[in-house]
Amino acid sequence: MYYYHCIFVLSVLATSLLGGLAKQSWEDMRTKHSWNAIPRNWESLGRPPSGTTIDLYIALKPQHENALVDTLYEVSEPGHPRYRAYLTKEQVAELVVPRPVTLKLVHSWLEHHSISSSSISMTHGGNTLMLKGVSVTQANTLLGASYQLYRHIESGETVVRTVSYSLPVALHWHVLTVAPTTSFDSPRTQWQTPRTRNRSDRAVKSTSGEPATMLSSRAKVDSVTPSFLRWLYDTESYTPNTQGENVLGVVGLLGDYPSPTDLTAFMQKYRSEAGDATFTVVDVNDGGYDPTHPNEEANMDIQYAEAMAYPIPHIFYSTGRGPSGTETYYMSWLDYILDQENVPQTISISYDNEELSLPREYAIYVCYQFAKLGVRGVSVMLASGDDGIGKGTCQKDDGTVRFRPSFPGTCPYVTVVGGTTDYNPEVAAALSGGGFSDYFKRPRYQEEAVTTFFQDLGSRYEGLYNASGRGIPDIAAQALGFRVFFNGNDQEEEGTSIATPVVAGIISLLNDWLIMTGQEPLGFLNPWLYGRGFQSLNDITEGSNPGCGTDGFSAIAGWDPVTGLGTPNFRNMLEQLF
Ligand SMILES: *[C@@H]1O[C@H](CO)[C@@H](O)[C@H](O)[C@H]1NC(C)=O
Ligand SMILES: *[C@@H]1O[C@H](CO)[C@@H](O)[C@H](O)[C@H]1NC(C)=O
Repeated sequence: MYYYHCIFVLSVLATSLLGGLAKQSWEDMRTKHSWNAIPRNWESLGRPPSGTTIDLYIALKPQHENALVDTLYEVSEPGHPRYRAYLTKEQVAELVVPRPVTLKLVHSWLEHHSISSSSISMTHGGNTLMLKGVSVTQANTLLGASYQLYRHIESGETVVRTVSYSLPVALHWHVLTVAPTTSFDSPRTQWQTPRTRNRSDRAVKSTSGEPATMLSSRAKVDSVTPSFLRWLYDTESYTPNTQGENVLGVVGLLGDYPSPTDLTAFMQKYRSEAGDATFTVVDVNDGGYDPTHPNEEANMDIQYAEAMAYPIPHIFYSTGRGPSGTETYYMSWLDYILDQENVPQTISISYDNEELSLPREYAIYVCYQFAKLGVRGVSVMLASGDDGIGKGTCQKDDGTVRFRPSFPGTCPYVTVVGGTTDYNPEVAAALSGGGFSDYFKRPRYQEEAVTTFFQDLGSRYEGLYNASGRGIPDIAAQALGFRVFFNGNDQEEEGTSIATPVVAGIISLLNDWLIMTGQEPLGFLNPWLYGRGFQSLNDITEGSNPGCGTDGFSAIAGWDPVTGLGTPNFRNMLEQLF
């Protein structure tokens, strides 16, 4: 009798607990993220057309919260027993698996809202659920949201987003973020059409604050071309050996893609022995590909990746916002790439957002996906941005000034590329993005380098940047005066956009040598670069990156938030790997 009574009590308890979750807690919602107002540069166009659906990503907290990042540092740290022992897609999924209770809770919440389990799948290598084709009405109920159609004022692009969203209190601890919700992401391409064709003007601009006498000794180039870069960064005498195992990936967002005809014309003129250079296009989430309507950013990215890394095979990812036109670009591309059994060893990305324009949880989540790529042995290069330490006045809504570093560069698990110009000495380009993250703390690999920089900086700009944040860039390359073919015209372009595929091309050559000699590729570069790789770089010690109404930071000996550790020297880097 007592025994049965016990069971009865237990089952009543269990029923009321579960019942409580099912009937009460799901209605007990609390805000997960909200903006005070519609983010700057966006305007509401009202309710989306009826019938609009979105694919919702629900990112779940992994069981072992630090396992992925701990593993990343183990496999990326020279001298560690696991150095370059990269993981497979399946092993990464095990590393990031959520707790059973997390999955159970989220599934019963979705069940409560009558979301059929057939529309739920696992993505992003194991800790994210995707709900396909959720109607906006249902998403509003699920997330206590008010999805509307928003237009980005500059680009005219429209997306479905909400200014705020909520989750049941019982899920807050388990769910990292839901997307798309409040991420008003409109990645910018990091290239510019030169504002002036007068190179002496530009040199003066890029060295603001320096005595004019220093300008005369510096050597200038009329145009940056493949032969100049191959000479400057010392790759001329290296011929890639591997046959297909080594791949260089170039990411296009915004549905951008390059022209093969322009690539051929460019190579025939500037690297004639490589006139047969080609690339493969992968269409990710309806990015599209019409070779007769190329985009400038995509053209320059592929032309300078090939200029450095030919004949290593190149893949171009033309990434779109999906059939509904509402997904976030980074989530789309990461979803695709993390699902592949084989990923390129080197990847170049020339798009970014101001970090502060994105929700913190969303940025942390996207950054976590880049860590997954690192664990799989991929070196990811990202442009640092083209607005120095920040565009315009950099005033926040309360009137205070804050420097504006770019995301995903501020993510500590990627390698960020700043810009330089001239040679003998090579100096910082004024446009070179740089600074310190407000979302990601300084990773230990750059502790010493950044602390040394602060000793030089002193109290200058105190309060305008986050002194405990991750510092960018990590490395740099030429960023002004590039020759680029576009629709058959040989024109001049500039930006860290082009510096990024240049560095990626050089890293791809290093990976070629490693693979040829039976070794694993370099993977996540920063622990090596900051540990000893920097000794093989050209330290940049002149120039600055003005912005936000200030003179910006100055390039100095050692690391600085203008040119990072310096520019590549392929031969020296290769020698270090022997
Ligand atoms: C370029 O700049 C220099 C120095 O400011 C000036 O003397 C020269 O006239 C300029 N040339 C052109 C074509 O604008
Ligand atoms: C500064 O960075 C730290 C570490 O990332 C972060 O916790 C803190 O919130 C940041 N401070 C500001 C004012 O953004």
